Amino acid sequence: MAQFTTRQITPEFGCEISGLDVRRLAEPAILAETKALIGRHHMLCFKDQRLDAREMVAFTEHFGEPDSHILRQYTDRDHPAVYVISNIEDRLANVNDVSLNWHTDLAFKTHPSAFVALHAETVPEEGADTCFASMQRVYKALTDAEKAALRGRLATYSYVRLHAKRTKIEPLTAPLSPQQLAESPDVYHPLLRRHPDTGEEILYLNLADCMGIEGLEEEEALALIRSLFDRVTDPAHVYAHKWSVGDLVIWDNRTLLHAATWFDAGRFQRRMLRTCVKGEKPMPSVPPRAAAA
Ligand SMILES: [Fe+2]
Repeated sequence: MAQFTTRQITPEFGCEISGLDVRRLAEPAILAETKALIGRHHMLCFKDQRLDAREMVAFTEHFGEPDSHILRQYTDRDHPAVYVISNIEDRLANVNDVSLNWHTDLAFKTHPSAFVALHAETVPEEGADTCFASMQRVYKALTDAEKAALRGRLATYSYVRLHAKRTKIEPLTAPLSPQQLAESPDVYHPLLRRHPDTGEEILYLNLADCMGIEGLEEEEALALIRSLFDRVTDPAHVYAHKWSVGDLVIWDNRTLLHAATWFDAGRFQRRMLRTCVKGEKPMPSVPPRAAAA
């Protein structure tokens, strides 16, 4: 066993790791142990790290191929895989934005992120927590009848329609270019998918960009998505991570939803490095109904 300490954060997910410099993930035994921990706990918080953008990429590569963000104005100049969340630099700050809403990253893509990592460089004294909620907790609580009703169903996600909604909230949001529109077709992801690492059937859904469920009326579909979403984000089961400088958190974007909390960007400074690991195309746990019909 490697020489580091672990502490379970909640009964359902999360594990804090102390006494391990993540550069040691280059050692196969430590990497294997870390991967087993993330499989079991879905979210890991490595304490007391100090990574620059290059090292953040190296850390991310242990879990798969880093995914570059579409909004290049916020990425590190030399490392486009590193997205910088900050109100410190002289730029339009991307803080207190849509990330305050519960979501899983990039559900509107054919290959949504597998993992997301955040590293805290500068943290406000108050606010800017990252909250997590487990889709898998709700999956386990579903009745057999509820699972049967979801199994084989595909939800539709649309970045184009999500973006159109956003432009109403944030008038400065630029319209999508013809190229961006062409690169953003609607996608269809199974509500119950097979986790590629654990083989488990998992519940997977997002709210903001979900436009419906194949084979259901829109109203019924959106009510179902909302009720599942509300169960996942039940405040009694939410963990709010209060950041310390040096925290490096990585989570499974397929099993946890996340949301930021507001902070006073006029009073406090915040700077975080973020990376994503490219995910697989979500595999349905059974053949999709539309395809089987
Ligand atoms: Fe996010």
